[in-house]
Amino acid sequence: MRTISVLNFKGGVGKTSTATNVAHALALRGVPVLVIDCCLQANASSLLPQVEGPTLTTVLRGQAPLTAAIRQARPNLWIVPADLQLDKAGNHIVAEGRRGYYRLRGEVTALTGFAFVLFDHAPTFSAVSEAGLLASEEMLVPVELATFPVEGLLGMFTKLGDDLVDHTLAMVGVVPVKLNRGHKMHRDYLRDLTETFGAKVLRPIRTDTAVEHAQAYHQTVVEYDAKSKAARDFRIVAATVAGLPLEPADEQATALEDEAMAVTAAADRTATA
Ligand SMILES: Nc1ncnc2c1ncn2[C@@H]1O[C@H](COP(=O)(O)OP(=O)(O)O)[C@@H](O)[C@H]1O
Ligand SMILES: [Mg+2]
Repeated sequence: MRTISVLNFKGGVGKTSTATNVAHALALRGVPVLVIDCCLQANASSLLPQVEGPTLTTVLRGQAPLTAAIRQARPNLWIVPADLQLDKAGNHIVAEGRRGYYRLRGEVTALTGFAFVLFDHAPTFSAVSEAGLLASEEMLVPVELATFPVEGLLGMFTKLGDDLVDHTLAMVGVVPVKLNRGHKMHRDYLRDLTETFGAKVLRPIRTDTAVEHAQAYHQTVVEYDAKSKAARDFRIVAATVAGLPLEPADEQATALEDEAMAVTAAADRTATA
């Protein structure tokens, strides 16, 4: 079982979209995935029709086992929902100390039947995020193509190194989110990321209104519009993360997109030469 934190200490960069769509793309390929919603905004939880009973808050307070908080959202896709009291669970963790910080890790380690556990993190670093990070072995980092993308990430890695005692997370990859290939700035930021993180930069998720529309219907974009650009990109990221072959239609689309990227990159080089 792989445990992956979807992480970036900024809001609105695509954490929830990445966590839920990568999870659902894997689920649609028959891979059993659990998403743990670690954000009190509970956006990932909105894939569930309604939430009653134990949530992540209950689990972190030690009032219910993790298994009691798991709900099935789709075939092969399960969610542990968050709620608005999650910050109070953070206070409980702090008060309890080491036992509190490691409770989730113990519960996650004991799980059976899932190939992946993905943690959808909040934008702020708290005791709850720390519990989620301690329960994961790897991280997947969505990043917006905005000013100083590289510096932002390096700063985050430094903070993780400083704050997480005796625990390191292996980097699965950086996922550039909301790419507009037509914007020179986006292409420049993407090049900066690639120069620093090399092959760890995974397939960028193109800007696509289908992502927001899907959310409005409490759906993932891979189910809302399977042929949309974003759905394709998320499926490619999911396949890369899991080491699965691409589906033929996605492979063709990827080849075309790669070609288009190479053409614009060459044009950029000519323009700056
Ligand atoms: N590829 C995309 N194209 C267009 N909008 C996107 C894309 N990815 C995310 N968004 C939008 O950006 C906003 C923030 O995304 P979200 O995944 O909720 O970020 P976070 O969890 O980091 O706060 C949402 O309104 C979402 O619909
Ligand atoms: Mg979110």
